Amino acid sequence: MGEYHIIGGKRLMGEVRAGGSKNAVLPMFAATVLNGGKSVLHNCPIIQDTLTSIEILKHIGCTAEVHGNTVTIDSAPANSWHVPEEYTQMMRSSILFMGGLLGRFRRAEISFPGGCNLGSRPIDLHTKAMGAMQCSIQTSETLRCSADSLTGFTHHLDFPSVGATENIMLAAVLAEGETVIGNAAREPEIVDLARFLNGMGADVRGAGSGTIVIQGVEKLHDVEHRVMPDRIVGGTYLLAAAITGGEILLTETNPLDLIPATAKLAEMGCRVIESEDTIALKAPQRLKYLTKLETCPHPGFPTDLQAPFVAALCVADGTSVVEETVFNSRSGHIPELSRMGADVMVMQDGRNFVIRGVKTLHGANVQATDLRCGAALILAGLAAVGETVVTDGYHVERGYQDIVSDLRGIGAEIRHVSL
Ligand code: EPZ
Repeated sequence: MGEYHIIGGKRLMGEVRAGGSKNAVLPMFAATVLNGGKSVLHNCPIIQDTLTSIEILKHIGCTAEVHGNTVTIDSAPANSWHVPEEYTQMMRSSILFMGGLLGRFRRAEISFPGGCNLGSRPIDLHTKAMGAMQCSIQTSETLRCSADSLTGFTHHLDFPSVGATENIMLAAVLAEGETVIGNAAREPEIVDLARFLNGMGADVRGAGSGTIVIQGVEKLHDVEHRVMPDRIVGGTYLLAAAITGGEILLTETNPLDLIPATAKLAEMGCRVIESEDTIALKAPQRLKYLTKLETCPHPGFPTDLQAPFVAALCVADGTSVVEETVFNSRSGHIPELSRMGADVMVMQDGRNFVIRGVKTLHGANVQATDLRCGAALILAGLAAVGETVVTDGYHVERGYQDIVSDLRGIGAEIRHVSL
């Protein structure tokens, strides 16, 4: 448990890097079960969800070593396919061990996943896909699935679910024959997972397009991989400069992954200059409003940056409309921002927000309700007059390894208080 204390009003200036991607590495941890050997992951964010994933891997018999941001997993000794609730309730991505365990052991027993409260987060797309793969599935207090053998199949996802796409990929790489995933998620993290699996000797093609084709192989081997930069952490830091009228250089990033976000930042009046692995952002005196910001599956605007962008729009010049189309309840940040003086209204459907920009926000005691809500409140605190305290900071620790030292490095007055 902990909280973040921020004294606002400083223009953020300087150079900052985002570190490795949470949403790329979490499916990779589940994938390390598949090769029955060594997986070395470099540029791995050492965050709570990484530690939980390592606990799950140890629980099923793997060994794990952490040296700085390099994590080495040996799944040769793995001898269990059961992931208990004490772990699954802590993070949504525990569901990905279903695909990894099915691929290795042809069976999995997973307690239902917890994670950020973003409205209903069913797993019907995951179980429907496993059913299509001829797995028998029992859902009682846990989710049990097993298959005598895994054969390739063609499956069209009703929605381009990131997790369901990843689960099918993990179950398919050691299946017999060809698997085709239609309406697959196209997020950059899917592409990085495919690179990781192919580094083990899998045959995954088309990742990043809407159709992924996997030829099952007999066996997989050791792998060494560098995790892609975290585009959501990178986007959060660009917004920290934007909301404070600052100027930063984001390094060791992939500008192509952030195009949906940098395009909107340019619309808001920021000067954005990209090189191969950096993004330079100079904010205007005051941000402009956005007529419409709508979240969509990639390559649309990422839902994980919705709350941080809403924080910036709260102090923009004009009225903005934001629509959250991916999750049915991703608005925990709205009432908390209102406590800081923001003028934000949630429409009847709970997915549309109208934001009338105000000149200044004032510091307040606010509560993080999920990971990106916490990030949004920290951003608002950077711009606010006075001190902001963001409580339930553990949400932020699930996805931001060094947010305090990173933001202090570009001039923010922020500290973390453990409780
Ligand atoms: C991944 O979650 C990310 N998490 C989320 O990031 C991200 O917001 C999300 O993808 C969308 O980009 C990780 O990668 C660990 P989905 P995931 O399946 O896989 C519905 C963060 O802040 N759905 O694409 O759970 C679901 O309810 C986190 O880093 C079903 O209806 O997302 C949601 O409305 C938050 N049935 C939509 O699809 C299913 O079986 C998108 O979910 C699965 C999903």
